[in-house]
Amino acid sequence: MTLPPPDSVLDYWSVKADPWTKWADTVAPLAARFNMHLIEEARIEPGMRVLDMASGAGEPVLMLPELVGPEGSVVATDVVPEMLSGLKRRKGADALQICAADMQALPFNDASFDRATCRFGIMFVPDPVAGLSQVARVLKAGGRASFMVWGPREDQTLFPVLAEAIDRVFGLAPDDHHYQIFRFGADGSLTDHFEQAGFINITERSIKFTPKAPTDRPFWRPQLDMSFGHIMSDKNEAERAAVDAEIRALLEPMQTEEGYQMKAHIRIASGDR
Ligand SMILES: C[S@@+](CC[C@H](N)C(=O)[O-])C[C@H]1O[C@@H](n2cnc3c(N)ncnc32)[C@H](O)[C@@H]1O
Repeated sequence: MTLPPPDSVLDYWSVKADPWTKWADTVAPLAARFNMHLIEEARIEPGMRVLDMASGAGEPVLMLPELVGPEGSVVATDVVPEMLSGLKRRKGADALQICAADMQALPFNDASFDRATCRFGIMFVPDPVAGLSQVARVLKAGGRASFMVWGPREDQTLFPVLAEAIDRVFGLAPDDHHYQIFRFGADGSLTDHFEQAGFINITERSIKFTPKAPTDRPFWRPQLDMSFGHIMSDKNEAERAAVDAEIRALLEPMQTEEGYQMKAHIRIASGDR
């Protein structure tokens, strides 16, 4: 996989800020089911100062102020200001300190945080060891970082189905950005990077989900807009309907009496300073 050039990464996420903000509240209950595992691994306690990176439209960072309580603080960061504008409009954002920051050049003092979290962000950082080294620098001795990534592409239902439907309708094969989502899908790949960045007590947790999805509505619409917003944003209703029809056809083999049988796989790497 070739990494997309940095400018194109910024453009790609800027375009997607609108759909991410639009769907953020709709997908929040599903997001919370992933977030709870990351939060558990992060071991956040009242009074702590927590840094979240690649916060996007607010997952998991909006869940963190409640955990640190009034004595603690939570800083949300993202390299794309448009994403943070979306986050600022969400309920609970006033409990956060919000600032634009590239994970590879964090604008914070050494040893200034107790915990660091990141959900589905490190795969888009051009130099992940540089990013994780920055995280190690801003954590206090005994501090802890926990990062969530997607498992391998073949362990997911929705991403490949959506990519295939777009290819069938528009003749656009999945690009480098798409494969980048699964950059740390292999067992031990993210933990290797934690090691190179100087973390200790490194662990990796692999979690597989097998939910049933409803067959009576286009449940994939948020994911389609969020993951493929750079392609779908200028499409008309007829083109969207054609993509929906292909998605339905691709999901048909997974149909059961209780709904479509889906699968998803995430990994959480954690390490201490
Ligand atoms: C898949 S979204 C995840 C957003 C949020 N954490 C979530 O799980 O809903 C990836 C985010 O990474 C951000 N991002 C990409 N490269 C980054 C970098 N070098 N430093 C910080 N954030 C970055 C993007 O702007 C985008 O908001």
